[in-house]
Amino acid sequence: MTSPQSNLPRLVRACKGEIMDRPPVWLMRQAGRYMPEYRAIREKVSFLDLCKSPDLAAEVSLQPYHAFGMDGVIMFSDILIPPEAMGLTVMFGDGGPTFADPLRSAADIDRLTVPDPVQKTGFVMDILRKLRGELAADPETALIGFAGSPWTLATYMIEGGASKHFARIKGFMFEQPEALHRLLDKLSQTIILYLNAQIEAGAQVVQLFDTWAGILSEAEYREFVLPYHQQIIDGLNRKQAPVILYVNNSRGLLHLMAEAGPDVVSVDHLTSIQAAREIVGSRFALQGNLDPVALFGSPESLIPKVNALLELGGNQGYVFNLGHGILPETPVENVRLLVNAVKASAATSETLTHAPI
Ligand code: CP3
Repeated sequence: MTSPQSNLPRLVRACKGEIMDRPPVWLMRQAGRYMPEYRAIREKVSFLDLCKSPDLAAEVSLQPYHAFGMDGVIMFSDILIPPEAMGLTVMFGDGGPTFADPLRSAADIDRLTVPDPVQKTGFVMDILRKLRGELAADPETALIGFAGSPWTLATYMIEGGASKHFARIKGFMFEQPEALHRLLDKLSQTIILYLNAQIEAGAQVVQLFDTWAGILSEAEYREFVLPYHQQIIDGLNRKQAPVILYVNNSRGLLHLMAEAGPDVVSVDHLTSIQAAREIVGSRFALQGNLDPVALFGSPESLIPKVNALLELGGNQGYVFNLGHGILPETPVENVRLLVNAVKASAATSETLTHAPI
């Protein structure tokens, strides 16, 4: 787990458990509305057109990297692109994403296809290829691909958009579990092909986002989430790209995230990194978990939180990140402070290592 492979990007080395002078840092949803550069582009082009224009999407992916120097560049896209390729019509409005034709019956599920990722979502692979070209001069920075996990995608596809009580997907779970399993299985097949195509196109790390798996009980998670995480993780070309698994609201579910066998367990801000390490053990790297709202505070409140997290995370098997995506109202200057503080920890750790005892 710790053999040095220093030609790999810092983020990849951290995912593999290598010891280093400081952890890598990137932020979930780091490209987006908190950046004026992003808002300027969005004034001219709709969100979906942006996702489907490789030049613009690559530019937006690089905006946070150019502004703050994160150690990872996550491709700009959305988790709801594959469901569109499977046959649904997705729309992104001010109230968040919605489907025009949500799944209401087993027959709707059976009509969905498992799309060829290159044929149907070739624009995603074009974005990744462009980004690898742009990052060729900086082999320390990793290109990150991603997908939504089956449960979260199924939630949007069945509810038709954001939901409060998840009554429709739970209805499927209670009344027609076989149909829901068929959907989750189709989604898993789709995501395996999609992520492997991303790896082929140049993604060096991939993250699975399961934003809504945390609404389930442990028994439900074991039946409707874990087998699909396992299926996907087992189906990926892991030699080429380590896998990060993120579940929001994962308190009480972390041992099941570990059971899926990712390289990295991404922890939300409700569980401490220390507690998470005790639960998942040392076989996994951890990612997380600053509260995104901490970025709204003064530098005097933010920096001690960042330093405390650096202390807990340590220099081995740890990726500095937020506990959930960055919020649109986040002050840009605090993002800069955060990234700089993580980077400055390299100097501190060197002083500590070499200081006379
Ligand atoms: O991380 C990055 O910078 C890459 C881009 C990225 C987006 N969405 C862009 C986006 C990623 C990794 C996602 C993942 C995503 N999308 C998730 C999982 C992560 C999480 O935060 O839980 C989910 C649940 C979605 C679905 C989605 N897309 C929602 C709920 C929304 C609306 C809410 C919101 O933040 O606006 C979107 C739209 C979306 N996806 C935007 C961006 C930048 C905002 C669209 C705009 O510009 O108007």
